[in-house]
Amino acid sequence: MRATSRPVARISGTVRAPGDKSCSHRAVMMAAVAEGTSTVSGLLEGEDVLNTAKAVAALGAGVERLGPGKWRIEGVGSRGFTTPRGDLDFGNSGTGARLMMGLVGGHDVTARFTGDASLSSRPMERVLKPLRDMGVTADTAPGGKLPAVIRGGRLKAIRYAPPEASAQVKSAVLLAGLRAEGVTVVEEKEATRDHTERMLRAFGVQVNVKPRPGAGPVVSLRGGQELKAIAAAVAGDPSSAAFAIAAALIAGEGEASVTGMLDNRTRGGFFEAAAAMGALLATEADGQATGEDTVRVTARASKLKGVRLDPALVPSMIDELPIFAVLAAFAEGETRVTGAAELRVKESDRIKAICAMLAVNGVSVVELPDGFVVTGCGARGVSHGVPGGGLVETRHDHRIAMSALVMGTAAKREVAVDDVAMIATSYPEFFDHMTALGAEIERAM
Ligand code: S3P
Repeated sequence: MRATSRPVARISGTVRAPGDKSCSHRAVMMAAVAEGTSTVSGLLEGEDVLNTAKAVAALGAGVERLGPGKWRIEGVGSRGFTTPRGDLDFGNSGTGARLMMGLVGGHDVTARFTGDASLSSRPMERVLKPLRDMGVTADTAPGGKLPAVIRGGRLKAIRYAPPEASAQVKSAVLLAGLRAEGVTVVEEKEATRDHTERMLRAFGVQVNVKPRPGAGPVVSLRGGQELKAIAAAVAGDPSSAAFAIAAALIAGEGEASVTGMLDNRTRGGFFEAAAAMGALLATEADGQATGEDTVRVTARASKLKGVRLDPALVPSMIDELPIFAVLAAFAEGETRVTGAAELRVKESDRIKAICAMLAVNGVSVVELPDGFVVTGCGARGVSHGVPGGGLVETRHDHRIAMSALVMGTAAKREVAVDDVAMIATSYPEFFDHMTALGAEIERAM
């Protein structure tokens, strides 16, 4: 389905951030292996997380939806997973597939992992290599791609320094480490999101985190620790909140707030980078969720200026770079993003997808091997503004679709995207929230 976003004068209002995708996957997975029955509230009911829920159910956990965002999960505990009858289909989700490879690896089961066209083109060896070292057997399609057959069993702990800054790799190894013999250690190149560590602790697992100056932390856990069922609450997703915040920042006028958003340094890069561009942002504490504090973030229409993004911020805003590129398009001057080669292996090659999204809407952009340089057009009315008028190719990538539609709210002409189906993987309420804030987005077959 196509959609078109028309320019509007004003963005204003308040929305609640949808459940964080990373925390939602982790809550479901940990509850599924815990001893006892957990509840999860605030769960993101996007397709990615629902696929993880189906996978743990197929592996023997009891999974029941009690109401909106509220789920009951009966863990398999010490009896462990059982071999599923059919394939485990993770749809569009790299997090679902990769973390589950680690979790399944410690159990005496065999499971075939599949995914959609985007996921089936993404690299799995980054998790399979350390998992094989621990004792997991994995057969993949050529090039280390899905479908993959994973056979778990008795594992031994390893010490691993992933070559890429990846929370998925760290998490897959730690989840396998839960049932490995000995202490599993991950030495992070740079700090990545730490939701696995925080949520494991909430489920009663002792996780050690040693910070290192000039590098990421060393994270370790002893195998054989039992997870105990909890009542988990999932905080709101900063990666989804960034769309409403960006819409308010590039609008001609108005002020928008997002509530219940998780406040975690490993996820805060977008807000820090936007502030460096001159974004008018305010945050105030507004609650707690499992392992995380939450905040209300308010953004006002702002005059942005281009920046050289500090590459050290990239891991903490890796999923926000498409919407950050939109901010750059509405800024005065040049914005340079480097150190972001990981974008090449996301739901799409996001460096190519971002450059194409901007170029087709009249914004000058140069592709770099590990980033991009945007020549900002300035805000509409203040400067010459973003021309718009383009049709953006989604490339099976939810964040490209949402970024393009946000761009359309403040461009001089409307912006269209060729397919919005993928938005449901991470932010099913996107259209309702954008409409509530004053955006005019029309969907058509
Ligand atoms: C995620 C980690 C990141 C991120 C993804 C979610 C996670 O991927 O892009 O959307 O929940 O651990 P990488 O670990 O590949 O960087």
